[in-house]
This record gives sequence, structure tokens and C-alpha cells, in this order.
Amino acid sequence: MEWMLDTANIEEIRKGLSAYPLSGVTTNPTILKREMPISYYDHLAELRSLCAGLTLHVQLGSETCDGMLAEAEKLWARLGREVYLKVPVTREGLKAMLRLRERGARITATAVYYPIQGMLAISAGADYLAPYCNRMEQNAIDFGETIAQLRRMTDRENSGAKILAASFKNAGQIVRAIDAGAHAVTVPPSLLETALSSVLVMDTVHTFSADHQAVLQG
Ligand code: E4P
Repeated sequence: MEWMLDTANIEEIRKGLSAYPLSGVTTNPTILKREMPISYYDHLAELRSLCAGLTLHVQLGSETCDGMLAEAEKLWARLGREVYLKVPVTREGLKAMLRLRERGARITATAVYYPIQGMLAISAGADYLAPYCNRMEQNAIDFGETIAQLRRMTDRENSGAKILAASFKNAGQIVRAIDAGAHAVTVPPSLLETALSSVLVMDTVHTFSADHQAVLQG
């Protein structure tokens, strides 16, 4: 099971690295926009060095295959070939995935709402595919069933593609995605903070801590 942080905030990533069992960091243009003003490639380079040893997933912003291929070259020049290129599963995106695979790219298929998108991305050779759980739920699409269908396909085909569930707005969605068969989840750090500092948890910890002090003092 892999845990990733869905943020481009340097401080959040630093804090997350010290506390969570992380395997990667994911971004998209909207997440990066939240950090403005930034110099785009410099900020990504900072993320790359901060996340040394982890996977870094950066989304291609172009909507055309040629545009995506040009962006990939720029990202490789600045961040190295190990960066995971997030490619939306559209017709142009699939075209780009096939071309990028020929060049040895690491690919995270993204903006997955429907099983058919994920299935095509698996066949196109994506390393990860990212179903957008909360956005699916908002559109009355059962993300748990979608993840289970995609998992059956990756297992049956022994494809090596991993389901990286994304777009979460609460901890319950994360748990459901994992339970449905996601190999990985990418989560906003604030959701983990909220879950780990709930009143139930903290009241329990404070009571034990106070009792511990009392026992120590006799
Ligand atoms: C993953 O990297 C996705 O881009 C991200 O989780 C989408 O999240 P949102 O639906 O909260 O924008």
C-alpha cells in the first residue's frame, strides 16, 4: 500500500515527510496555482529535491498530444526522466501515452472518472491510474465499484499498473478506496491531520498522558 501527499506546498511536504510513511507526492495545475506566486519549473525542481527517493507526479497541462510531448521534454530536462508524467485519459492523452511509453516515460493516467478510461490507460501501459473519488461521488458515480473493476483488470492482466486513488474530501472516502482495491492513495495533508487529531483520539491520549504522570509521581 502506498501513501502519497496531494500538495505542492513545501512546508506541508516537509511536515508530511517526517510523520507519514510516504512513497510520493502528486500535483496538478490547480494545486500548483495555490502556491502562486511561484516560478513553475523552479518550484517543481524544489519539490523534486525535497522528495528525493519518492515518486513525484506532475501533470501535463496541454490538451493536445503534441503539446503534451513538448511539455514532457521540458519536464525531463528540468526534473530528470524519473518524474511521473500525469496524462489525462482523453483521446489526445492516450495518443500521448503511447508515444511517451515508446520513449520510456513513467506515466500516471489521470482525470479518471469512468472504468473505460482506466481500462484503456492500463492497456496503454500507464504505471499508475488515478480515479477521482470525490469528484466521482459528486457526479453519482460509484468510485468503490470503479476501483474494484479496475483492480480486477490489473490483477487479471498482471499489468503492473497501480490504482492511485485521488480527489478526497474526507477520510471515509480514503478508507473506501483502499478497501475497494486501490494500490495507492494520494491525500491532502489536512485530511490526515484532521483524522489524527480528532477529539476522540486526543481526549484518549490526554487522559492516558495525565494518568501516566500521576502513576509516575506515585
Ligand atoms: C491528483 O493528483 C488529483 O489531481 C487530485 O487529487 C484532484 O483533487 P481534487 O478533486 O480535490 O481537485
